[in-house]
Amino acid sequence: MSSNLRIACVMVGLPARGKTYISQKVCRYLTWLGIKTKVFNVGNYRRKLHGASLPHTFFDPHNSIGEQQRREAAAAALQDMIEWFSNDQGIVAIYDATNSTKKRRRWLYEKLSKHDIQVLFIESICQDEALILANIKEVKLSSPDYANTDPDEAAVDFIARIDHYKEQYETITEKDLTFIKLINVGSQNIINMIQGYLESRIVYYLMNLHIAPRKIYFSRHGESQYNLEGKIGGDSSLSERGLLYATKLPELIQNLGTQDLVIWTSTLKRTVETSQYLDYPKLQWKALDELDAGVCDGMTYEEIEQKYPEDFANRDEDKFNYRYRGGESYRDVVLRLEPIIMELERHENILIIGHQAILRCIYAYFMNYNHEDLPYIKIPLHTVIELTPKAYGCEEKRYKVDIDAVDTHRPKLKKSPSVRKLSKINLGASGEIVREPMSPIIPISPNLFPRTSSNPSTIDLSEPALGSLE
Ligand code: SIN
Repeated sequence: MSSNLRIACVMVGLPARGKTYISQKVCRYLTWLGIKTKVFNVGNYRRKLHGASLPHTFFDPHNSIGEQQRREAAAAALQDMIEWFSNDQGIVAIYDATNSTKKRRRWLYEKLSKHDIQVLFIESICQDEALILANIKEVKLSSPDYANTDPDEAAVDFIARIDHYKEQYETITEKDLTFIKLINVGSQNIINMIQGYLESRIVYYLMNLHIAPRKIYFSRHGESQYNLEGKIGGDSSLSERGLLYATKLPELIQNLGTQDLVIWTSTLKRTVETSQYLDYPKLQWKALDELDAGVCDGMTYEEIEQKYPEDFANRDEDKFNYRYRGGESYRDVVLRLEPIIMELERHENILIIGHQAILRCIYAYFMNYNHEDLPYIKIPLHTVIELTPKAYGCEEKRYKVDIDAVDTHRPKLKKSPSVRKLSKINLGASGEIVREPMSPIIPISPNLFPRTSSNPSTIDLSEPALGSLE
């Protein structure tokens, strides 16, 4: 499906209000759904053009040189963003900056609209002083702006920088703009003039985010009978070693010390049996069932290669887009898991006891893997993976239980020309690679504006409409 839809998400908010965190989350979510997305961070442009380690006075609205230089950084980021939309067929760009005056927002809106780019403003307001301080400590003081600066001095300088922005800050009240206002992320949201499917999805995603600290754990089911026999799919029970893993799991989980844990499993026996000794609330999800191997369900890889050699080669050629005859592809599974991701974002501490392909897809969302590498992520048996969400991604720890298990990971093959010849790119077929290049996984509606080639592609910095920045 081709689309001329282009959306710029323009962040709004004082420094240390989680704008970068939100930008990164939206970018990862959309990229996971196959929607080409990129973040343009104005602070990075400012550091590149004018250097890091600038004192707070640089951000003083009465400092005319600083103001001009910040304007240059804002315009350079905008220019690159507009070029990225046309040169790289981008669909969603995120413009990560404070954009905290009406004048600045109007300037951005006018520039982007001229290029047929829809603008969605995302304002983050945080009234929780403790949270702001935690954000300053965790993120800002480790930023390149304060490399080699004493942390106490850095905190004083950064708070003075925020005060400069506060002097001119205007919350969004422009009724003709499309916006979502997130107040204390997760507690109150105000939305205005949201249009189209993709904007609604982004807004729905934002409404489900929270920033309370939490842990996400993954474990595959214990080794199953089918694992021992080298068969895929099915609904077999655990092997002896798999059952032993299930008995060891409660102690391991308890030692991690995470309170209020909830356990999610699929509806298949091997995950339910793995969870049986864990004394926590449990939920079974059909959406967490293993990738459906269709006619190959219950076969070994050797049997598949013998019976369906062309399919087997196609799968190695493009594992993410290959759909089993009468079954699913990884691409299909990502779409099926989207509601799970939304629920994961809403909740706090969760342990998912799942299947290899399913956990690869969920892990790829949190750890930002591309679609090509996703089907090869290593999620070994008898191992608990712990993810802790942070501002720029997730911290990871792995806990291996000392019980042997078969290795079900098949490494990526080097492509040979004969394999390549076998593959077809067909739409809607089964047992073949099913994809349309560049096509997103969720449907997106076409742009409201027609795209024209005569749109200007450079930005005049001297234009009066740019006015002064915050
Ligand atoms: C920055 O220079 O760090 C951000 C620029 C801005 O958003 O005002």
